[in-house]
Amino acid sequence: MKKHAIVAGNWKMYKTPTEGHDFVKDFVNLMLNIEDMEVIFCPPFSALFNIDVVLKETPYKLGAQNCHWKNEGALTGEVSVSMLKNCGVGYVIVGHSERRHIFNETDKWINKKVKAVLIGGLKPILCIGETLDQRKSNETKDVLFYQLKEDLNGVEKLEDVVIAYEPVWAIGTGETATTEQVSKAHKWVRDILLDLYSQDIAKDTSIIYGGSVKPENAGELFEIKDVNGFLIGGASLKIDSFKEIILTVNKKLKV
Ligand code: PGA
Repeated sequence: MKKHAIVAGNWKMYKTPTEGHDFVKDFVNLMLNIEDMEVIFCPPFSALFNIDVVLKETPYKLGAQNCHWKNEGALTGEVSVSMLKNCGVGYVIVGHSERRHIFNETDKWINKKVKAVLIGGLKPILCIGETLDQRKSNETKDVLFYQLKEDLNGVEKLEDVVIAYEPVWAIGTGETATTEQVSKAHKWVRDILLDLYSQDIAKDTSIIYGGSVKPENAGELFEIKDVNGFLIGGASLKIDSFKEIILTVNKKLKV
């Protein structure tokens, strides 16, 4: 039985600040009972400001989708960890596949971001995952090893780090990885953490899955032993689907 779960909604570049605030307000008004779960909204930067006012005294947390590793500077278009913290942000998604593949973020940058987030007192949600080509050529485990080793270089403790396994080919495609593929990949991640850290760290680190999670598949995916929750894109943009996934996970936590 699992004791705790994390469900994060990655809005990507969707929702204006007004739409985002309204969405969160409506969500809070549902008064869901979400004990033993962390539910995190990750709006675009523009919608972060003042949204913490709506989330105050609710069980919900706020996350950002990216950050720069420097505290301030002449870095047009970038946002620092302290700026996010000032908006009430608790989590930062780092190394999302869209950042890696569309914006050419390197593992070196991702490593700097992970460290900056931790130093700033926030929690990184570090995304890793293989492309379809890499999967087809049986490189998935090697890719996960390389990404974890590089992205966590110099990070000694993982108690504030969440790992999100997100196969690139399953993101936004409607094509979810099979339970067998997810189960294998999450087990590999734990084995790699055992290699790089220790048995306790491998056992205790939260590993969430992302890639076309929807109400219809959330239940069976959450039943997989090494899955501690989800990072959700498309299905987090609608109240009904996000709520359904949260309730499904919550129900499974209680059995
Ligand atoms: P998706 O996105 O749920 O729309 O596939 C997941 C993600 O990008 O984190």
